Amino acid sequence: MRFIVNGPTTIHGTISVRGAKNAALPLLAAGLALDAPVTITRVPAIEDVARMVEIMERLGAVVSRGADGTLQVNAAALRSGDLPADLTGKLRACTILLGPLLARFGRAVLPQPGGCTIGQRPIDLFVDGFRAFGIEVTEEGDVTRFVGTPHAARYVFPVVSVTGTETLLLLAARTPGESAIENAAMEPEIPALAAFLNGCGARIEGAGTPTIRITGVDHLTSGTVACIPDRIETVAFAALVAACGGDLEITECAPAHVAVPLKLLTAMGAEVVADSVAGTIHIRATPPLRAVAIRTHEYPGLATDAQPPLTVALTQAQGVALVHETIYEGRLLFVDKLNKMGANIILCDPHRCIVDGPRRLHGTTLESPDIRAGIALLIAAACAHGRSTIANAYQIDRGFANIEERLRSIGVDIRREDS
Ligand code: EPU
Repeated sequence: MRFIVNGPTTIHGTISVRGAKNAALPLLAAGLALDAPVTITRVPAIEDVARMVEIMERLGAVVSRGADGTLQVNAAALRSGDLPADLTGKLRACTILLGPLLARFGRAVLPQPGGCTIGQRPIDLFVDGFRAFGIEVTEEGDVTRFVGTPHAARYVFPVVSVTGTETLLLLAARTPGESAIENAAMEPEIPALAAFLNGCGARIEGAGTPTIRITGVDHLTSGTVACIPDRIETVAFAALVAACGGDLEITECAPAHVAVPLKLLTAMGAEVVADSVAGTIHIRATPPLRAVAIRTHEYPGLATDAQPPLTVALTQAQGVALVHETIYEGRLLFVDKLNKMGANIILCDPHRCIVDGPRRLHGTTLESPDIRAGIALLIAAACAHGRSTIANAYQIDRGFANIEERLRSIGVDIRREDS
């Protein structure tokens, strides 16, 4: 599948934000930690969720789909901790399942996990963390085996890891005794996960801060939870307006979770009015905006996932800006594709590039390398002159539900085509 986009576009109208991919995946995993069914609402209809569900079904969980993005997970008949190699290669986040699987079976097998081509995605922090909880870990080729009855532990993350924090949180919630996670990730998906688990009887304090304390419990009851709004999708829509110009109302979002990107867009000269109570952001922009340096950081800093769309917006801004990507060494490689469209970006090293704008982009044929660079290319295509073809739509579908229809509703000339 590929997308065909004809630009340039001026954005106008209203677009609603879907539930967050990176909230849905750990909440689905939490379904394996519970002793009773969990109902998750506002689950985005995206490929990564479909892959996670397939893996969980293969392990013996029963997942039923209701209307409007509701999924119910019943893990009562879970029978195995062996993650299926043909599916783990498609989804890096399958590692989150290890926490509940170890808590329930005392064993799990992880074939090499896959995911985006954005840099090295090692699992050393998971291995180190599990060892701290008393799990024996052996690595044979591409397969990692985890065995043992976990005990409560204090684990200090040497590097902040989002899914690492979620995985140990899920393990500790079901492991009797007092555990602590230090230098924990603080992304909003983590307090959302902890609040849900607490509602099911877990005892977790401090989620959303660098120190999380967990008193493990034997039993977790059933619960219902809604995925929080996708903050990366929110920024992508705002960056689309900054790149193309226009006037957009973004609804069903959480402005507090995108405070830093909104600050940067305002510094670039976009008019941004956020209403946290209503869950809306109104953004208006008339290009060229001003170039502003950006630097990714763990939350509450600028999310690495938000960098590609903002980099596209910078190609349309007046002046020179440094983009410093601090988390992944492969996340700037897509700027070559923007240069092919007419941008002027110098890649200084794997972590830094300099964007000189504004440059008139022209349509061309491209391939989406990963979810976030993929949406960035759609944004670039929307502001480019002429026709663009973006192949490998699957990468965009992994993280963005029904994107062509939603972008069409705000003025983008986009359609999907069989390759
Ligand atoms: N890292 C290690 N060893 C590990 C794990 C991570 O060195 O064992 C390094 C990574 O290489 C990276 C850094 O630690 O340099 C941070 O990675 P983190 O573990 O936080 O990433 P993640 O948990 O695998 C989640 C999101 C990513 C997002 C990152 C950073 C989910 C399911 N995925 O990944 O989202 O980029 O946090 O915020 O929550 C995306 O949605 O497109 C995406 C890639």
